[in-house]
Amino acid sequence: MLILRTMQNKRICTLGVIITIWIFSLHLVRAYDVKSPTALTIKDSPDDLNRDEESQLHDDDDEDLEVFRPTDKWQTLKPGQAVPAGSHVRLNLQTGQREVKLGEEERLKYLRDGNGPGTINVQNPSFTSQELKEALKKFKEGLDDSADTKQEEDAVRAQFRSMEELKKDMAALDMLVETDVQVMRRLLNQFNDTNSTTEEKVTALHDLEYLVHQVDNAQNLVSMGGMQLVVNALNNTDIRLQESAAFVLGSAVSSNPSVQVEAVEGGALQKLLTLLATQRPMMVKKKVLFAVASLLRHFPFAQSHFLKLGGAQVLSELFQTTGADALRVRIITILYDMIIEKELISQVGMDLIPDSSHQERLRQYAKVSLLPVLVEQGWCNLVPELLASPEHDWREKALRTLLAMMAQCQTQFKQNPTLIYSLNELQIQYRELVLTEHDVGEEDGYFGEILALVDSMMVKLQ
Ligand SMILES: *[C@@H]1O[C@H](CO)[C@@H](O)[C@H](O)[C@H]1NC(C)=O
Ligand SMILES: *[C@@H]1O[C@H](CO)[C@@H](O)[C@H](O)[C@H]1NC(C)=O
Ligand SMILES: *[C@@H]1O[C@H](CO)[C@@H](O)[C@H](O)[C@H]1NC(C)=O
Repeated sequence: MLILRTMQNKRICTLGVIITIWIFSLHLVRAYDVKSPTALTIKDSPDDLNRDEESQLHDDDDEDLEVFRPTDKWQTLKPGQAVPAGSHVRLNLQTGQREVKLGEEERLKYLRDGNGPGTINVQNPSFTSQELKEALKKFKEGLDDSADTKQEEDAVRAQFRSMEELKKDMAALDMLVETDVQVMRRLLNQFNDTNSTTEEKVTALHDLEYLVHQVDNAQNLVSMGGMQLVVNALNNTDIRLQESAAFVLGSAVSSNPSVQVEAVEGGALQKLLTLLATQRPMMVKKKVLFAVASLLRHFPFAQSHFLKLGGAQVLSELFQTTGADALRVRIITILYDMIIEKELISQVGMDLIPDSSHQERLRQYAKVSLLPVLVEQGWCNLVPELLASPEHDWREKALRTLLAMMAQCQTQFKQNPTLIYSLNELQIQYRELVLTEHDVGEEDGYFGEILALVDSMMVKLQ
């Protein structure tokens, strides 16, 4: 004879006892069913109905079962009959049939409560949080109703620990299903709490940064009042908070027009430019440049605001700061992206039948008078300095920017001997590098691409 205990998992066992006693729902183990050997659930939520429908497509055995009432004697189970939790089930190896009787503790409880069970469902492999909540609710109701008799009070006391465990299980489940909005609320509270240490605030911002990459979360940040907290933190006295706030801001506004609008209206640009214009550690300035770039991208309103606030001048001073080499390519990239963006918008307009939103964008970009401001701020002579960098990609970025500025800067370029010299040197160097590319069979390599840019500059400056 093979004896099978119906409950193996401790947690499920605890719950099973509670549920058996307090809501009279029954559990079934179908030890013979390889698909769901420990399947048990309460049949009372709409979810289960849906699950039923699905599962019935696959398994004829999943109809709601009549519940077998075990006694203290072994009885043979008919196919489709379910047994309450805590029962002993055995397989009679001679007849191949399952037999069942009450377990000792369960027998006492079952006989005392003496209630007829409802139907049960055998498909669901574990408790859902909804089911746990239902169970707790009924458990509490049970507590209130049953307080009249001594016997029931004792039963309550006996179950007290179990209820604590049930609550713990629920708390754990709630943690698992905590939504992004709940997490963000918690992080914002942690950040906004005057009692939080700077470390705790920085941690909260970094966790937020991770979440706001998602468009919805970034918009929730705005609606929860978090954007203004982040913008305010940009001029916090602690540089770690300045840096983290800029990081969150940059990620939240990336490719998210409505959030860009909120940030600009919240005064973010002014604060970011102040951070760039004053003495800060390189790490802070890097994150601030990231935020500026994200804020300006595809957002002509922010771009003209940036120019009005003196952004081109702030960047030009930063570009010339000693020790800011690592920032130079980032700065040039911001300028290049703005130039090209405007150019592409006007080019697209030539092929398309203009619709009203395109007209509006053209109108907005027309207000961004970037190139004249760049000329005025000395960028025709600043960009060529980046060609002296040993990094190929920095040179590439500089060359592309020079070409984009050609129309406005051509005269100054021609009068810049350092630029002409650099271009000649680069031409020689990249011609050689292209040969080594060809040697390894690469016809359209990266060095060839850079050489084409150099050649193009040379042609235009003749
Ligand atoms: C901060 O801590 C103090 C004392 O520990 C407490 O009275 C106060 O309510 C706390 N403030 C917040 C916002 O939790
Ligand atoms: C931050 O805290 C202040 C008061 O401590 C409160 O008025 C404000 O609503 C909080 N902001 C957010 C977004 O939680
Ligand atoms: C930050 O700027 C706001 C206004 O822009 C000002 O009210 C606040 O005092 C500043 N905070 C610090 C710490 O300088």
